[in-house]
Amino acid sequence: MINQSQFKSLLAGRTPKTAIILGSGLNKVAEAITDELIIKYKKIEGFPQSTVEGHLSQMVIGKLGNREVLCMQGRFHLYEGYEPYVIADMIRALRFVGIEELIITNAAGSLNTQIVPGDIMVIKDHINFSARNPLSGPNVDAIGPRFVDMSNAYDRDLRAKIHKTASKIGLTLKEGVYIMVLGPNFETAAEIKAFRIWGADAVGMSTVPEILSAVHCGMKVVALSIITNFGTGIVDKPLSHEETLSVSAIAAENLTRLIKAYVAED
Ligand code: HPA
Repeated sequence: MINQSQFKSLLAGRTPKTAIILGSGLNKVAEAITDELIIKYKKIEGFPQSTVEGHLSQMVIGKLGNREVLCMQGRFHLYEGYEPYVIADMIRALRFVGIEELIITNAAGSLNTQIVPGDIMVIKDHINFSARNPLSGPNVDAIGPRFVDMSNAYDRDLRAKIHKTASKIGLTLKEGVYIMVLGPNFETAAEIKAFRIWGADAVGMSTVPEILSAVHCGMKVVALSIITNFGTGIVDKPLSHEETLSVSAIAAENLTRLIKAYVAED
């Protein structure tokens, strides 16, 4: 388990209320932070390490626009072999140090021909196809309820706000349903076909455990997918992690502008 009080003391009096979790290839957001304090995950007792290439395993605390934020460079995926409670423990540590709003980003594959590589999709709902849940096991009532309401998990007001911010800076965002798979393989064409029938617009291997944990402990959440590719079989081309990193580098510029403008507005 994460040593929460040690984490708090490493923050050295900083009190960010907004945390940002960065997905694959989205490190540019953290580079825009000024007056920064960097905490390596390994400095915090019990904090896990990310094992994925492109994930740095550190958090950057500082100013983004005029808001103090805590930016996580490196997340934990179930496909790395982490048990789901590890993600709940991480989110609860963020809550313990005072985080109230979580901005989650990820890289995802599109299942919808109207949502194309390079687009940013605001997640409006999800399908948990990972067959894992960070909230399974004994519930701690002081943290949140046993049976969590998911009807406004992707907070309507925050979604409206991010669309408004986007149009102010000349960006048009898509909106859709995210389906989480366990991974680490990319989906088969048959899986993609099924997910489309279920009403999913994008597929990825993260985010859902973070959302479930955050909603459970009372955080507000906004989640954004960078679309890096079409799902298997939608276009006739194999998928690679390198492709994911290079397309997201371009969209990351837009995402950085968007998040900066979003946190600047209160
Ligand atoms: N599938 C799953 N995860 C992903 C994809 C995908 O097509 N693209 C980026 N992350």
